[in-house]
Amino acid sequence: MAAARQDSSSGRGDDALTVTPDGFVQYYRDDLSILPSMTPRPRVHVTRRLVPPIEDQLRRQFNAVIPDSDQPSDPLMLQRALGDADALVCTLTDRITAGVLAAYPLRTRIIASYGAGTDHIDLDAARAHGIVVTNTPDVLTDCTADLTMMLILMAQRRAGEGERELRAGAWGGWHPTHLLGRRVSGSTLGLVGTGRIARAVARRAIGGFGMQVRYHNPRHDSVAELEALGATGSATLDALLGAVDVVSLHCPSTPATRNLVDAKRIASMRRGAVLINTARGDVVDDGAVVAALASGHLGAAGLDVYRGEPALDRRYLEFDNVVLLPHLGSATHEAREAMGQRVIDNLTAFFAGEEPPDRVA
Ligand code: DGY
Repeated sequence: MAAARQDSSSGRGDDALTVTPDGFVQYYRDDLSILPSMTPRPRVHVTRRLVPPIEDQLRRQFNAVIPDSDQPSDPLMLQRALGDADALVCTLTDRITAGVLAAYPLRTRIIASYGAGTDHIDLDAARAHGIVVTNTPDVLTDCTADLTMMLILMAQRRAGEGERELRAGAWGGWHPTHLLGRRVSGSTLGLVGTGRIARAVARRAIGGFGMQVRYHNPRHDSVAELEALGATGSATLDALLGAVDVVSLHCPSTPATRNLVDAKRIASMRRGAVLINTARGDVVDDGAVVAALASGHLGAAGLDVYRGEPALDRRYLEFDNVVLLPHLGSATHEAREAMGQRVIDNLTAFFAGEEPPDRVA
């Protein structure tokens, strides 16, 4: 079968790259002499559909296997992929557990996760199997911080309630006591965690809304920018929770942070405070949050992430003062394309024998 002629890989315009149907790359010069021989392209298994420019680039650069339909992979599908491909491109919907990684034979040498969080991958098990793991930090920071501000605004200003009322044809017109919320400008925001997204939220909250920002980070790292912005640290999480109007969670999901926001911690919060979660669902104890919403101790909540997604604790649906979004933090064309580019950069470096820029294991 004739091989398809593709664009030059040299950038000089005098060479051309040709891909044979069996996944080999041939380099031709203008006189079509093969340079210097055939090189196999790494086989890359992608678990979910990605944005078209990224899928196209993956197909051009690698022997990419991309599914026709867009479904999360079950453990068996993941094991087959790990036995079949040199690289696995996965997402947070794929649970790469120690059991999954115990698959035999294991061909995969790199797992390039499409996303910043890595709690869906057992990093210790990956290390034990000699598998490199990468993620896609930085490029989704601004979009996730934008969405955090949106949840703060929606929860404080009752935007979801207002929109539902209007759509239901139930709006009786302007009146002085209609859907009164809480002023965002000048209120106090508490950041749990001080990573990239927390710092981007602080820039927006301070620069855009004149909020006072406090933070808590037990490791005391990455706080220089927050201090420069005028944010102040709280020595303990309980001290932070008791000193702010809005609590926004920006910590990873780890054994240490699971159920971090439990009944005791919620009791430390001011009465009427607002809880925002764009981190991971299992950082909060849903039962405790629901109880605090029912008692009025929590004034409102804005949630983008849930324990056991796409399932969620259906009791949240009963509260008008809870804004519920379906994990949209990084859901912009710009972020999703940049995340894909980051995956490709990591794979390219790895298969060139270099250290991938976003290596986490
Ligand atoms: C991540 O990358 O971890 C985000 O949750 C995806 O939006």
